[in-house]
Amino acid sequence: MSQSYNRGTVEDFGRWREFSAGMWAWIFHKFTGWVLVGYLFTHIAVLSTSLGGDDLYTGTLQGLEALLVVRFLEVGLLAVAVFHILNGIRLLMVDLGVGLESQDVSFYASLVLTGAIVVASIPTFLGGPLA
Ligand code: HEM
Repeated sequence: MSQSYNRGTVEDFGRWREFSAGMWAWIFHKFTGWVLVGYLFTHIAVLSTSLGGDDLYTGTLQGLEALLVVRFLEVGLLAVAVFHILNGIRLLMVDLGVGLESQDVSFYASLVLTGAIVVASIPTFLGGPLA
């Protein structure tokens, strides 16, 4: 016999302490997906400076990389992209019926792996321009 229970308002973020791992995975995946879409437009804007010639493009990139805040943002972008990819692969596996019993564990594994990759990237990103 089926049972019903009061789930409350799903969108009620005031209840965030009660969110399950699956809810956090859903929120993080949506957030990272839309941040990546936002970045895509920024990326196209920066790349389009190459239309003004090699010097303008190189100058734009060197100017951006010289800013510490940009290098911090790059670490954030890596975190967002790596989590979205790892969690996205996890979701695709779930869609295929793989690992249905260990979805919490695989979500935590995505977070830990993302954290490890991001931490490993910090010396490269924050170390300043290579050349
Ligand atoms: C290897 C790379 C990627 C993988 C494996 C991946 C995987 C996925 C999967 C499986 C979903 C559906 C989640 C669901 O079932 O609700 C999704 C949603 C989405 N992805 Fe990706 N994705 C990747 C790259 C990207 C990139 C590069 C962008 C942006 C430029 C992006 C933007 C989005 C957005 C906006 C959504 C919808 C989020 C929502 O529910 O509102 N993804 N991704």
